[in-house]
Formats: sequence, structure tokens, C-alpha cells
Amino acid sequence: QVVDWDAGNTGKQGYAYYMEKEINEQPEALKRILTNYLVDGSIDLGYEGAVDKMLTSFNRVCIVACGTALHAGMMGTHLFRKWLGIPVETEMASEFIYSDTVLDKDTLFIAVSQSGETIDTMEALKKAKKEGAACLAVLNVRGSSISRIADYTLYTDAGPEIAVASTKAYTTQLMIFYLLVLRCASLRGRMTEADLEHALENLRRVPDAITQVIAIKDDIHRQAKEVIMASDLFMIGRGMDYLVLLEGALKLKEISYIHSEAYAAGELKHGPIALITDGTPVIAAATQTKLISKELSNVKEIKARGANVVLLTKEELKADFAQSDEYHVIGLPNLDDEYMSFPEIVALQLYSYYVSADKGLDVDKPRNLAKVVTVE
Ligand code: G6P
Repeated sequence: QVVDWDAGNTGKQGYAYYMEKEINEQPEALKRILTNYLVDGSIDLGYEGAVDKMLTSFNRVCIVACGTALHAGMMGTHLFRKWLGIPVETEMASEFIYSDTVLDKDTLFIAVSQSGETIDTMEALKKAKKEGAACLAVLNVRGSSISRIADYTLYTDAGPEIAVASTKAYTTQLMIFYLLVLRCASLRGRMTEADLEHALENLRRVPDAITQVIAIKDDIHRQAKEVIMASDLFMIGRGMDYLVLLEGALKLKEISYIHSEAYAAGELKHGPIALITDGTPVIAAATQTKLISKELSNVKEIKARGANVVLLTKEELKADFAQSDEYHVIGLPNLDDEYMSFPEIVALQLYSYYVSADKGLDVDKPRNLAKVVTVE
């Protein structure tokens, strides 16, 4: 499917802000990726098998990006480790350029960028290419500068993203990582046909899951109203939840100007808990079944210090938290744990959007920030 890039078709179409429109476009954008990359029920990354060949020959992965794309890359790292069991790292492009990260011809280097023009990411890619790594790009804008340097580009085809705060670019980048890593795992015999089919089934359910989150936007809006006067807000979670919260905290700080930070819940006791006092708003995410009891005890610790907690979990796990009416629980649509990142980030995008809009800020054009950063 070809996405419509006509600038004349990028109006707000009845939405108050581009960000709201772009949040709402996510189910369609994700369906489009699945249509584009699933051919006869199996993953086809294009280039007549050339990307497949690349995927069978590396033994290390290095993912580099900035901002939201960096957070998508961190999720990519998590997936590569989980499903391939090989060494993988994510690095900020601005740091990578001056770092001594070891790259060689056995390294798969992945640059992630919505615009394909971010100078730091481009410089990092040039460096990786010079050092002989196989270079893949995950980009939204076709024909952008980075696509001309990478060996191959996987496009997210999310269409134009106008709001500075990235939304559909992130979820489509995530989707590319799921498809890429699953393809890799199946090519290398790390996953059975049945497991792969089960994974794809979950991915096919993602667009509907996002629509369901959008359907509970009024509840999310009510929670957002509670924090418009806050100066600080913390987000805590473990594993994949933590990675999603990094992006959630970035969203909130960019457009609401509330100081927001994500912490790995297990690290609370090593510092951040000193910041929790009476009335401190905290968003806790707990969608990973095996981590629920640990997360619950963290929530109790911060409750004991007076935090106002909103808890994001799966609908089917809500019962684990129901014994307490001390915090508000938002139940997200049930997918297998590995795929909860999609509904979870959409809830946080909506939350940030409402905080910013209710504060009367310019949601689409936050101060000091640019959509594309072409200076180092
Ligand atoms: C800017 C934008 C962010 C974006 C980052 C990386 O900071 O405001 O939304 O995530 O650049 O941009 P890229 O186009 O490389 O994804």
C-alpha cells in the first residue's frame, strides 16, 4: 500500500491538534505495515531476499537513534535479546559518534529515524559503514538522506507526522522491530512455525487493541486533569514497561513542560524514592505477568510515602490490583505480555496530549523543540 504524502491532505481533519489526529491514525498505519510486510502469511522484508541474507550473517547488533526513535531502538534491543539471544546494544547517536563502540563486518548496525535527516544519526551511520558493519535503516520518510547511506531501508510508511511530539512514528518503528526480529528468529531456527504464527496473531490484534485504548480516552483524560498543576511526575515499571515509560515520560515533558522521568521500579530504592512525597503523581505500569508482584510492592512503597498513583495494567490482570482502591487502575486491552507496549504507549500519548491541551499549551509546537534536528 502506498501512503498519501500529499501535503494538501495533511490538514487536521477536524481534530484540535495534529498530535490528536496522529494518535488516531495509528491503527491504520499499523495495519498498513502488516499488509506491506506480510506476504501470504509470512514476513517478507523485501529487496528480493537480500535483507534476509543480511539477517543470517551477523552475530552482534548495534542500534543507534535519537529521541523517540532511540526509545523504539531500545525496544528493538529487548526483542533481539529475547528472541535471538545475541549481544545487542542501543546507543544515543550523539554519543555513538564519539564513542569507542566496537563494530565489524559481523555487526548489524541499525539506524532508526522518522525523518531520515537527523544529523547525529546520519553521522553515526556513516561511521558504522566506514567500519564495515552491515547497515540497515528504519525510516519513515522515503528518499531521505539516511536512506541513501544505508544498505537497505525498512520503511514505516506512517505518512507525514506534523506534531513535534512523535506518536505514530514510534508505534510503527516498534512494529518494524517486531517483524524484523521475528523474521530473524525464524530464519535462524530460533522459533517454531507455531510460535511465529502465534506472534503474528498478536501483531494482527495490535491495531484493534489501540482502537480500544482510544475508546477509553475519557477515563485517561480524567486522570490527566489531576496533574495539570504538577511540577514533577514519575513513571515506574520493569522490563518492557520501563522501556515504554521512557517514551511516555519524554512525551509528557516535551508537550506539558512537567518535569517527568521514568525509573526502573527496582532502582527506586537507590535514589528516586527520595523524591516521592505527599501528593507526588506517579504512573506505574505493570503489564508483565511475571513482574506483577514485584511491581505491586514498589507501588505499596510509594503509596506509603503519599504518592498519587495511576496504574496501567492489562484488563485481565486488574484483579491482582483490585484489592486496593488507593489508586486508579486503567485496564489496557489484553494481548500477550510481549505486545503490551503498543496499547500502553498509546494510553501515555493520550495522557500527555490531554495534559498539554488542558494547560492551554501549543500541543503541536512545544517551545525549544524542532521536528527535525539537522545540527549536531
Ligand atoms: C527531534 C524530534 C523527536 C525525534 C528526534 C529524532 O528531537 O522532536 O520527535 O524523536 O528528533 O528524530 P528522527 O527524525 O531521527 O526520528
